[in-house]
Amino acid sequence: MNIPITRPYLDEREQELVAEVIASGWVTQGPRVEEFEQTFAAYVGAAHAVAVTSCTTALHLALLALGIGSGDEVIVPSMTFIATANAILHARATPVLVEVDPRTYNIDPQSAEDAITPRTKAIMPVHQIGMPADMAALLDIGARRGLKVIEDAACAVGSEIDLGDGWERVGRPRGDLACFSFHPRKLITTGEGGMLTCSDERTASRLRRLRHHGMSVSDRARHSSDRVVAEEYVEVAFNYRMTGMQAAMGLGQMEKLAGLVEARRRLAARYTEHLADIEALTLPFRPRYARSNYQSYCVRLAPDAPCSRDELMQKLLDRGISTRRGIMTIHREPAYADIRPRLELPISERASDETLLIPLYPQMTTSEQDAVIRALTGRLSVV
Ligand SMILES: Cc1ncc(COP(=O)(O)O)c(C=O)c1O
Repeated sequence: MNIPITRPYLDEREQELVAEVIASGWVTQGPRVEEFEQTFAAYVGAAHAVAVTSCTTALHLALLALGIGSGDEVIVPSMTFIATANAILHARATPVLVEVDPRTYNIDPQSAEDAITPRTKAIMPVHQIGMPADMAALLDIGARRGLKVIEDAACAVGSEIDLGDGWERVGRPRGDLACFSFHPRKLITTGEGGMLTCSDERTASRLRRLRHHGMSVSDRARHSSDRVVAEEYVEVAFNYRMTGMQAAMGLGQMEKLAGLVEARRRLAARYTEHLADIEALTLPFRPRYARSNYQSYCVRLAPDAPCSRDELMQKLLDRGISTRRGIMTIHREPAYADIRPRLELPISERASDETLLIPLYPQMTTSEQDAVIRALTGRLSVV
């Protein structure tokens, strides 16, 4: 048996859509990119969506579009994928790494507020492995303290949040901008790829310019014009353009998204039902305002469990079951040794060391899931 941690859900539909783009010759920034942006914006309930090459580049552009740069501080949880803080450094700002809530693994609003200094310009909450962060508290801090809020929604397409007006999708957005990833570990994939969502036209057009070398006209506008268009380069910018093939793949994925979210939630509920009696395991906590898309299913091992987290991962791998360590902490990585020296964040460190992600993907069969449940129960239940 070989049970992977996850598996992208792609079929003939994506092949067909990508083949159409190749045949059309519009292989970058053509109609499919715009269509993907519009479909994505409509799905999350945002006025605008801008497609880019990854969530890392989306986060970078989000910071630039909000005028955040050298000398500015951005508050971010340490317990997240390293790209979140890297993007802040790419923008020449300083990441200020703070604690998470030990139950949700999302940024702790109090820890974020305590870290505010006169240089703080933004808070960057992460909707950790699909579980929405406490946006009501974070937006309140942002409003009271005059800070921008940029959502790292890399893993959160299809997740929902209730801010008092009923359920809405992450990405609407409630903060200034939200950034998504289409890496194959996410619910939908374009191989590599990312998307920003926002509510105002000015920000969206600035983002479009920043992804396209700072050019004053889009490729599409230039190609469809019956007059000679002389473009201008109004600012120093980047090539963060999504290709037409990626966008076509994304459109195929959007057709499947509702079903993918539903399948993941069903599998997660089944894990919760069958693993609930294992005392050594803490299962995902769901705050009342959040509905996860279960991009990952994260379990936490008690310190007095019959084996260590790493031994458990090895035992599972010996039975053909892949797992991954829980979410990393950035401040303990060598790359950040000089940037955040001697920083200690005990809540994040313990959470990171005691958690693991277990296999979850929409195609997972009942017998595959039962094998994971049996392996965990067999290894952890005290008889
Ligand atoms: C929370 C978070 N932020 C950012 C990223 C970076 O996304 P990408 O690989 O699309 O740049 C990831 C990717 O795993 C992530 O999990």
